Amino acid sequence: MKLRHVGLISTSGPTAFQTNHIKTNNRGPEMNSLKKKYRLWHCLALAFILPAIGLITMTQAVAADDSVACTDCHDDKQGAQYVHSPAGEGECLVCHEPEPAHLEEGGPGGMETNRTASACAQCHDDMAGGSTIHPALEMDGECIQCHNPHGSSFEKFLVTSANSLCLECHDPVATGAATGSQHLPVTDERGCLNCHNPHSSNQAALLTASPKALCLGCHNQEISTQEGDRTTHIKNIQETMELEYLHEPAADEGGCTTCHAPHGSQHKKLLTASFPEKNYYSSQSGIDSDTNTFELCFNCHDQAMLNQDISAADTGFRNDTLQDGSVVRRNLHRFHVVNTVEGRSCNICHDPHGASQPHNLRSTWTMKKIEPTLLFQSRPDGGECLKSCHRPKQYRRLD
Ligand code: HEC
Ligand code: HEC
Ligand code: HEC
Ligand code: HEC
Ligand code: HEC
Ligand code: HEC
Ligand code: HEC
Ligand code: HEC
Ligand code: HEC
Ligand code: HEC
Repeated sequence: MKLRHVGLISTSGPTAFQTNHIKTNNRGPEMNSLKKKYRLWHCLALAFILPAIGLITMTQAVAADDSVACTDCHDDKQGAQYVHSPAGEGECLVCHEPEPAHLEEGGPGGMETNRTASACAQCHDDMAGGSTIHPALEMDGECIQCHNPHGSSFEKFLVTSANSLCLECHDPVATGAATGSQHLPVTDERGCLNCHNPHSSNQAALLTASPKALCLGCHNQEISTQEGDRTTHIKNIQETMELEYLHEPAADEGGCTTCHAPHGSQHKKLLTASFPEKNYYSSQSGIDSDTNTFELCFNCHDQAMLNQDISAADTGFRNDTLQDGSVVRRNLHRFHVVNTVEGRSCNICHDPHGASQPHNLRSTWTMKKIEPTLLFQSRPDGGECLKSCHRPKQYRRLD
């Protein structure tokens, strides 16, 4: 075979990639800096390497175009749906270094291929700019585990679709993404990339934003999803987070994930522990050992609030009376919550995120498709509740 492959460095120059292969993607500044780097690389190449091989080039006196030589025999490196510009432009030698024998006879061998990130770093940032770096970037093969250096049928030259790429290494069971109820963004088109940066991040767990900003970035509106003929409405949490009385863990920066598993959970609403699915249910004790009904709340709050016999410290939601000189306490938490016929979930009175009335008390809840109102009046020694369906009720504490 005639050695046409003489200018081992392409002399097509920095303008080579200003062709229709380049998807500028409105990424002005980023792409410009990429182009600058690219040009710089070329300048260096032209300044130092070309003179060295110039001799060969001259003696061969054949038009210099390495892409022709390589693609003569490898015609499959430029045909992908999305072609990586250096491959498309025939800049094979930015990553490959052939011995002349390879070009003459072809065949395996006679070829040095830079499979490391240093090849990519000629033109790209090292992608490890954040304080948390994805360990995948330090594994053998580095960038090419996820990117095909030549091109691919997936955007960003990914080796497989965005939502299955991560599962090549991550077990969906280990992340909880395959348990019980799933969080829709985990499996949609962008999948993990909805929340994680594949390279590095200044947030823990490679998150694209602080956990709370991340959640509220999508839950700043009502979300309706359709499954068959069943429509589910997920309420706007951002709106709730603007109310006056926030539940402390929800107000906390890392808070959403203390109660919700971001990928999936065996409990409804992605909860990290059990909590009644319905507002009304039956309960012997409120903490039935088989379902551990309110485990979520009692991970932090004291279960004693539901006891028959309580001290003043157990709950403020009680009505005290004096009988024969001693204080008799009626536990109103127990009265409402523990009920074999119709127990009421904490959720009826309290919003776990935030609410407009003290003690995170809601102003309304859902009861068989109607939405009664609840007006709460706090008092130094108790409170008064006015529900749209009942007379006002008061409770009083004696100490
Ligand atoms: C950005 C760097 C880069 C560019 C540009 C590049 N390659 Fe590659 N190429 C690689 C890497 C890295 C591998 C090894 C992949 C692996 O081990 O999985 C490779 C593998 C190959 C292989 C063997 C495996 C296969 O996929 O068939 C051939 C052949 C090849 N390249 C040809 C070319 C040709 C021809 C060009 C120019 C049109 C080119 N490459 C441009 C980085 C590059
Ligand atoms: C005369 C034909 C021919 C030319 C020209 C040629 N190759 Fe190859 N190359 C082959 C054959 C044949 C193989 C072995 C089969 C295979 O892997 O596709 C091969 C294998 C490779 C491999 C994988 C094997 C290895 O040892 O790493 C790479 C990478 C590669 N070529 C890159 C290039 C690049 C880059 C150029 C241009 C600088 C080039 N080849 C020019 C024929 C050629
Ligand atoms: C010679 C310079 C050069 C080298 C070396 C290079 N790239 Fe690129 N890369 C570019 C240019 C120019 C673009 C923009 C045009 C395009 O999309 O092809 C680009 C685009 C990309 C994109 C898509 C960017 C986007 O925002 O759409 C990815 C991903 C990428 N390169 C990965 C790699 C990886 C991985 C390597 C190393 C195996 C590598 N590149 C090596 C020049 C280079
Ligand atoms: C674990 C898989 C993985 C590894 C390893 C990886 N990338 Fe990426 N990379 C991606 C994914 C996924 C995207 C698409 C991101 C998106 O669409 O938000 C991407 C996007 C890019 C882009 C486009 C610009 C951007 O930031 O979105 C460039 C350039 C890039 N990668 C280069 C590299 C380089 C260079 C390396 C090695 C240092 C590398 N990647 C390693 C998965 C990976
Ligand atoms: C080539 C294998 C590989 C691929 C592909 C891969 N990862 Fe990883 N990833 C790892 C390894 C190894 C670790 C460290 C061990 C662990 O946490 O499982 C890790 C850790 C992580 C972590 C935890 C980081 C931390 O600091 O807590 C996140 C988040 C992550 N990967 C997300 C992703 C996402 C998103 C993708 C797809 C874009 C992806 N990974 C693709 C290998 C991979
Ligand atoms: C809705 C946003 C979201 C999506 C989508 C998402 N994650 Fe996460 N991921 C998180 C959050 C938030 C954390 C941090 C959890 C914490 O701090 O408790 C996390 C943590 C992780 C961790 C660190 C270890 C752990 O389990 O806590 C890994 C690994 C991980 N995610 C992988 C993935 C993979 C793989 C996908 C895609 C299948 C994915 N994530 C999709 C939000 C998400
Ligand atoms: C990329 C957008 C996006 C992000 C980010 C996001 N979510 Fe979601 N979330 C959704 C969508 C869409 C649904 C509706 C899913 C459905 O109906 O199956 C949903 C549903 C939920 C549900 C109700 C699940 C059910 O079974 O009804 C909870 C709880 C939830 N998200 C919590 C969170 C938390 C906590 C975070 C932050 C770690 C978060 N979300 C981040 C899009 C997002
Ligand atoms: C103290 C525990 C707790 C914290 C902290 C918490 N949640 Fe919730 N969340 C719940 C419970 C319990 C439910 C189910 C009852 C309900 O729908 O109000 C729920 C329901 C949801 C729903 C589904 C609402 C619907 O209409 O189905 C979304 C979305 C949600 N939470 C997002 C968030 C976000 C975002 C954060 C952080 C700002 C957060 N949660 C913090 C306990 C919590
Ligand atoms: C991660 C820990 C945690 C979890 C889980 C939790 N809380 Fe809280 N809760 C707190 C903290 C901390 C406060 C603020 C200090 C206090 O008042 O005890 C608080 C305060 C409250 C208040 C307001 C008390 C007042 O008098 O103003 C109510 C009501 C409440 N929580 C109900 C619930 C309910 C209902 C659940 C279950 C859905 C729950 N909490 C789950 C930590 C938690
Ligand atoms: C019928 C409405 C109602 C239900 C149901 C209810 N609470 Fe309350 N809760 C209240 C009221 C009213 C207060 C305010 C008591 C006061 O005046 O200090 C309160 C106060 C609290 C407090 C502050 C400490 C205390 O006990 O005074 C916590 C914590 C709390 N509730 C948690 C829960 C949990 C957990 C559940 C479910 C197991 C629940 N509540 C069910 C009405 C309710």
